[in-house]
Amino acid sequence: MLTGQETVHDIIVRHPEAVKVLHKYGITAEAAEHFGYKSIGHAALVLKIPLKKILDDLAAATGEKVKEAKVTGIQAVKPGVRKGGLENIGRIVAVHSGKGGVGKTFVAVNLAAFLAEKGYKVGLLDADVDCPNILHLLKAEGKLLADARKMIVPLEKFGMKIVSMAPLLNSEDEALMWRGPVVSRVLEQFLYDVAWGDLDVLVVDLPPGTSDIPITLYHMLPRCETLLVTTPHQLGLLDAKKAAALAKRMNVRILGIVENMGGEVFGKNRGAEVAEKLGVPFLGSISLHAAYAQIPADGSPHVADSGDLREIYELLWKKIGK
Ligand SMILES: Nc1ncnc2c1ncn2[C@@H]1O[C@H](COP(=O)(O)OP(=O)(O)OP(=O)(O)O)[C@@H](O)[C@H]1O
Ligand SMILES: [Mg+2]
Repeated sequence: MLTGQETVHDIIVRHPEAVKVLHKYGITAEAAEHFGYKSIGHAALVLKIPLKKILDDLAAATGEKVKEAKVTGIQAVKPGVRKGGLENIGRIVAVHSGKGGVGKTFVAVNLAAFLAEKGYKVGLLDADVDCPNILHLLKAEGKLLADARKMIVPLEKFGMKIVSMAPLLNSEDEALMWRGPVVSRVLEQFLYDVAWGDLDVLVVDLPPGTSDIPITLYHMLPRCETLLVTTPHQLGLLDAKKAAALAKRMNVRILGIVENMGGEVFGKNRGAEVAEKLGVPFLGSISLHAAYAQIPADGSPHVADSGDLREIYELLWKKIGK
């Protein structure tokens, strides 16, 4: 009999096939441990998913019958924007684009590393839940553990505090299918339930387009600022327009546009033109460089050993740093 009162662990031990069903809702054993879900019912409550839906799905996969029990003794997390908890974070800069693969992660990681090298206290949040690749890029390893106050302790590398969804996945190859309330809840926890400490800047690497994540982030944190990445490709304007429109609609300040992968292949300096058309600052152009596509043996960000890149970030920071 499935009641919703069983723990994630119990149900997986009883029915290994339940893993797939639970995962669909963003409930993995790892996530249950990190976020302290006391039962399937508790997880459903926190994630704002009807418990009945999960239990019916589990029943179909396991053949057990459902008798939903009331979840008691656990406060539901209040929906909406949380107050407090991020006062110690100076600025929150989200890196976004309308289109995938334009180099958001590259720009975000190097911005964070550049600022850390300059002596700022920097956090880096990999908010790409479908394809979290920052840890892989920085060759950072480790589990996200909770401290005594049950706050998630970020990983640290190259002077940055890093949080990513990757350690919560069962395996690297597993594609995540988390949607809607699940992603917003996870994003909320990755912002508020992390022991970030004092930060000057939190750089957030977003997934492309107008998916749940950018919308949720902008909704939760209207004070967040966005840095748009585009390529000189002809379609760049359309893509940048889409990302800019989202930020404008949600009253998020657009810091400007960075053109990435400039040079011979896609042409040069359409970024400036795009920025002008959208009425936002142009922050600089990064060339397409074979070396930038490689991950150094120790995972060190390219800005650490490329003078050209550092110069671009110096100018960029002059324009957007306060
Ligand atoms: N200026 C550059 N020169 C050469 N390679 C680059 C450059 N910028 C990014 N790359 C490479 O291009 C690929 C895509 O970059 P990246 O992952 O940063 O894009 P993204 O916009 O974050 O993609 P996604 O939308 O999938 O998150 C990566 O392999 C990266 O190493
Ligand atoms: Mg990316």
